[in-house]
Amino acid sequence: MNISVVGGGYVGLVSAVCFSQLGHVVNLIEIDQTKVDAINQGRPTIYESGLEEILLAHAGRNLTATSDYEGIPDSEVILICVGTPQAQDGSADLTMIASASRSIGIALQKSEGYHVVAVKSTVPPGTTEHLVRPTVMKYSGKGNDIGFVMNPEFLREGLAVQDFMKPDRIVIGSSEGKAGDLFEKVYSGLQAPLIRTSLTAAEMIKYTSNAFLATKISFSNEIGNICKRLGIDVYEVMNGVGQDHRINPYFLNAGAGFGGSCFPKDVSALVHLAKDVGEEPVLLNAVVEINDRQPMRMIKLLEKKVGDLQGKKIAVIGLAFKNDTDDARESRAIPVIMELKRKGANVAAYDPLANSSMSKIIPDITYCISASQALNMADACLVMTEWPQFSLLDKEFELMRLKVIIEGRRILSCKDAEGICW
Ligand code: UGA
Repeated sequence: MNISVVGGGYVGLVSAVCFSQLGHVVNLIEIDQTKVDAINQGRPTIYESGLEEILLAHAGRNLTATSDYEGIPDSEVILICVGTPQAQDGSADLTMIASASRSIGIALQKSEGYHVVAVKSTVPPGTTEHLVRPTVMKYSGKGNDIGFVMNPEFLREGLAVQDFMKPDRIVIGSSEGKAGDLFEKVYSGLQAPLIRTSLTAAEMIKYTSNAFLATKISFSNEIGNICKRLGIDVYEVMNGVGQDHRINPYFLNAGAGFGGSCFPKDVSALVHLAKDVGEEPVLLNAVVEINDRQPMRMIKLLEKKVGDLQGKKIAVIGLAFKNDTDDARESRAIPVIMELKRKGANVAAYDPLANSSMSKIIPDITYCISASQALNMADACLVMTEWPQFSLLDKEFELMRLKVIIEGRRILSCKDAEGICW
C-alpha cells in the first residue's frame, strides 16, 4: 500500500519505519528539514532499539521523508502522528492536529479515489469526528471520498519497534466499515487480535489504557508506603499478588512514581475531560496526587538521615524517566532535584544517557561523567532510574563522605541502600 505519515516525531518515525518493513511504500512528512535529511540518510532522530537497522534498509527505497504534502494524493492511507502536548489547563492541545488536518485537506483537493485519514496521535474522544473530519472535508472540498479511522498506539519508549511488530492488540475505530476494512490492510503480516470499534471508543481506549497502567503504579506505591511502615517488603508482596492472572505481574513496581511524555499528560487530560463533562474523577485525582507525593518522600527520608540539606553534596543517580532512554521528560528526578536545590543542597547528577536532556530542563547543577564522579565525597545518594548497570555499583559507594543511599527504583544490589517504600 501507499501510506503517508504526517509527523516525524517519536510515534510517526517508528510507525513509518515499521510500515516500510511490512512492505508498504511510505511517505513521511516532517516540517523540520534537519530531521528529513537525517531520516533520508538512514539516521534515526531518536534513540530506539532496532530502529536504525530497519531505517537503513528502507530509507531511499520504500521510505522517503519530505517536508511537503505532495505525496498525499497518491496515498490510500494517511496517518496523523503529530504531538498533542499538555495545555496550560491540563487538557490536550490540539493545535497541531488541526493544522495537519487542514494541510491534508488542501493536499486532497486534487486527488481522485478513496482515501482513509487515520489519527494515531492520542486525542480526546470526539476529536476525529468533530475536528479532524470537518477540517479535512472543508479544505478538501470533497464529498464522501474520505473515510476516517482512529488507531491508537501502544508503543513504549525503548521497546517501540518490538511493540509495533508484536502488538498485544490492534485497535481500529472507524467512521464506516469501508474505512476500517481498508485500514486493516496496513497491518497485514502482523499476528495480533484486531479490535474494531467506533471512533470515540478507540480514542477512549488509549486514555483508559494509560490511565489504568498509571493507576497500577500509584496503587503499588500506596501499598509500598503502607508496607514500609509495617516493615514488609512490597516487592515480595507484589510478586505474590501479580501471580493472579486477573492482576498480572506487570506495572506493579513501587518507587518514586511514573514519568515520561505519556502517563502524566494523558492522566491529566482524562481528569480534565471528566471535569468537562461534569464528572469528579476521584480515583484519577488520587493517582496523580500519589504520583506527586512520591518524590517528596525521597526528600523526607533523606532529611531524616542527613538533617539540614543546606550546603550538602547530594548525588542524584539516574535522570531519564526510565531506563534505556535518553528522555528526561517528566522524570521523577526533576521534582527531587528542584526540591534539593530549594533546600540549598549541591546536586551532582549522573545518567548514562540523559545528562544532556536533563541539562536543558535544569541547567544549574553539576553534571558528572560517571556515577563515581557524582558519588565522590557525597553526603548522600538518591537513585532515580532503573538502569541495569546501577545494579553493578558497589565499591563506588565507598567514595562517599557518608554512605547514605536511598533508592527511588529497586535496582541496587548494595546492602546499605534503603528504598523509598521498601
Ligand atoms: C507508556 C505506555 O506503557 C505505552 O503503552 C504507551 O503507548 C505510551 O506510554 C504512550 O502513550 O505513548 P512509556 O511512556 O514509554 O509508555 O513508558 P512506560 O514503560 O510505560 O513507563 C512509564 C513510567 O512508569 C516510567 O517512569 C516508569 O519508570 C514508571 N513505572 C513503570 C513504574 O514506576 N513502575 C512500573 O511498574 C512500571
